[in-house]
Amino acid sequence: MRAINIGILGLGVVGSGTVEIVNRNREEITRRLGCEINVTQGSARSTNKPALEKFDIDITTDSYAVINNPDIDIVAELIGGTTLAKELVLAAIAKGKHVVTANKALIALHGNEIFAAAKAQGVRVAYEASVAGGIPVIKAIREGLTANKIDWLVGIINGTGNFILTEMRDKGRSFEDVLKEAQALGYAEADPTFDVEGIDAAHKLTILGSIAFGIPLNFEKTYTEGISTISTDDVEYAKELGYEIKHLGIARKVDAGIEMRVHPTLVPDKQLIANVNGVMNAVMVMADAVGPTMYYGAGAGSEPTASAVVADIVDVVRYMKTEEVRQVPYLAYQTDALEAQQIVAIDDVQSAYYLRFHAEDKSGVMADITALFAAEDVSIEAVVQKEAVSDVSPILMLTNVVKERAINSLIEKLSALGSITSKVVRIRVEHLQ
Ligand code: HSE
Repeated sequence: MRAINIGILGLGVVGSGTVEIVNRNREEITRRLGCEINVTQGSARSTNKPALEKFDIDITTDSYAVINNPDIDIVAELIGGTTLAKELVLAAIAKGKHVVTANKALIALHGNEIFAAAKAQGVRVAYEASVAGGIPVIKAIREGLTANKIDWLVGIINGTGNFILTEMRDKGRSFEDVLKEAQALGYAEADPTFDVEGIDAAHKLTILGSIAFGIPLNFEKTYTEGISTISTDDVEYAKELGYEIKHLGIARKVDAGIEMRVHPTLVPDKQLIANVNGVMNAVMVMADAVGPTMYYGAGAGSEPTASAVVADIVDVVRYMKTEEVRQVPYLAYQTDALEAQQIVAIDDVQSAYYLRFHAEDKSGVMADITALFAAEDVSIEAVVQKEAVSDVSPILMLTNVVKERAINSLIEKLSALGSITSKVVRIRVEHLQ
């Protein structure tokens, strides 16, 4: 087979990593694929790319020059964002080019439209790099678990957030300090609030939920809560209780529909996923035939993400010789078999909870508190009263599994007790069984 030409839109952190890997591992890739792939053209805001000078690439500031180049077979969109990136991807598809993208926001928000356009043109759109960086989790779920019904999946799917939580816990570094380092290392999004407020993780969870359950992409229905409100006190208290606080994306099939939620979560410290630290990501999947499986690796950074981009390029080259009926569907399920399902409202989600508040250190206070728990039918799994300072004690409570609505009502009543002197902090707890 003739050599395949790749055009890259965006020669930044991931684009440069892609060029580097294609050239460094040319021999291995060719031995696997049976033909050469060459990055022959790329677009960037500036053509001044000293790190890429040693490679034979035509660098232009005009992305359309790449899309319209008849010698380019596959366009890799590595620009990010959803406005220009969407225009360029749709333009590439209209030109009959296959597309590889690392853009989770683009797929989560506009994937339904993009896949419909690609299907109409008979081209592939591959997006392995959009979720969990270098971990081939899309391929694992879409193809490796194709025999299974999936019950749930949970993931640490934002490297920046996990890096921040880990450094804060282990080194007592400030949130801002760690975030700056994550930006310098190329982990963070252009707008880092996407990382710390859970939006980036929600984009990725939307994609995982879709391929796991055969539902259309539904970003706007994914519940999202960030880590910016997590205090070092809660990290410490959680540890004392035998838990780690992790920012999890959770997609679960329940009787009422599908839960899709991203939020800080206490996870028992014995669970593998509780021990995923730094920029590493992990996705744990519970499926009916295989049981639990877990996928672990670098979730961000130049070459880990580029590793997934190159794997997608190789896959797309293989599909170029495969008739459509034999191709794996874009979202794992046949397009006409995707079914919209109820996404469970967060008030109806069932979870266990960690509550933490300060209460006056005097007789009868605990009796008043536990009476409110009984009135809301919330059972207490554990309670710890820390030593009082200035007649006020921190109290930590773990509940059994209840509807979020009941916990919210309980918190409202607790907050109205005169003896509780602080805000009631609430963090969900998942035992992952
Ligand atoms: N900002 C993302 C992260 C990059 O930190 O995980 C990879 O999607």
